[in-house]
Amino acid sequence: MLSALAIANYRSLRQLTVPLGRLTVVTGANGSGKSSVYRAMRLLADIANGGVIRSLVREGGLSSTLWAGPERFSAAMLRGEVPVQGTSRSEPVALKLGFAGVEAEDFGYAIDIGLPLPSSSVFSNDPQIKHEAIWSGPLLRPSTQLVDRKGAALRLRDGKGWQAVGRPVPAFASMMTEHADPRDAPEMLTLREQMRSWRFYDHFRSDAEAPARQPQLGTYTPVLANDGADLAAALQTIREIGDGEALDRAVDDAFPGASVEVQVSGDRFETLMHQHGLLRPLTAAELSDGTLRYLLWIAALLTPRPPALLVLNEPETSLHPDLLPALGRLIAQAARESQVIVVSHAARLIAALEDSDSLQPVVLEKQFGETRIANLDMSEIPRWEWPAR
Ligand SMILES: Nc1ncnc2c1ncn2[C@@H]1O[C@H](COP(=O)(O)OP(=O)(O)OP(=O)(O)O)[C@@H](O)[C@H]1O
Ligand SMILES: [Mg+2]
Repeated sequence: MLSALAIANYRSLRQLTVPLGRLTVVTGANGSGKSSVYRAMRLLADIANGGVIRSLVREGGLSSTLWAGPERFSAAMLRGEVPVQGTSRSEPVALKLGFAGVEAEDFGYAIDIGLPLPSSSVFSNDPQIKHEAIWSGPLLRPSTQLVDRKGAALRLRDGKGWQAVGRPVPAFASMMTEHADPRDAPEMLTLREQMRSWRFYDHFRSDAEAPARQPQLGTYTPVLANDGADLAAALQTIREIGDGEALDRAVDDAFPGASVEVQVSGDRFETLMHQHGLLRPLTAAELSDGTLRYLLWIAALLTPRPPALLVLNEPETSLHPDLLPALGRLIAQAARESQVIVVSHAARLIAALEDSDSLQPVVLEKQFGETRIANLDMSEIPRWEWPAR
């Protein structure tokens, strides 16, 4: 379980520590930074998959993703007596991302990505990984740190001391993909596999050509694909090896009297929905956008292989407000099996989740261009330490 997510200098997130509960709901006005929090989580997962530098470059490179405001606001700037202006920098330019664990056996991780030193390489604009750290529990301290990477130098905790790893880590790669040796660095391997298992769902397509509307080859599908293409196989897998009754209840909860069935012809699987008042079931191609999306959420959330962490971006998209309480119940049920983070601006969805006892609400707001947490005071925000460069 993760206790906090920390982000520095990423878009409007100049310095943000987000406390995480079993179920965390991140909300806020347009432009407050919700999507940036979601994208920061995805960047963290990209680290474990070896793609973080590529993802950053695809977002426009460090120069575009870095916080565009001053390093600090002076009191006079905040009072509006002088315009917001850059001051001389005291720290290197750095995009930092990290998360912490709850218990000592949960690992924390942080990465610091910066600008390259001038060089003659054609890749001299690529961001570089300057520092990484792994520790145990909620806070990075000398006594909890297990792995330390500074530039190319990697060292591992060895009893009370440190053991240097001879092979240098290239600036464009994370130590997580370069050095995950099960013998001398088991914590790195464990953490990498955990981060790779994080699951993200974001805006399922529901247009006429959407993959979820087409009949598909079916095989056991315990995890719904991100584009929902294997919806029928995922629903059938829940029926066969998961909680088929929960599936029927979830459909009936959202669409009273309706049920889903998976039809197999040859090796093609197709989703059929029986609805009250119709003489024949409708195929996925005939369902409304909202109905199809809802079935996709059911398939994603009732997965028979729940991940350690499930991150949902605006699950309310194109759903009628009347469906949101049922979606809230489905999400609360998923939070019994996985830690869940939901980014949403649907008030009714949030209201439905408020009944859940393990909810951590996080309301974002923007002040002077910077994202802050509006609903929590300092004592409710976990302490956070970045590794020193
Ligand atoms: N490099 C940057 N530095 C500072 N602020 C930035 C930078 N890049 C983008 N922003 C600002 O970050 C803010 C947060 O955007 P984000 O997309 O996360 O908002 P959101 O809460 O998801 O909003 P919406 O509800 O409209 O989707 C935007 O207002 C944008 O102007
Ligand atoms: Mg957004």
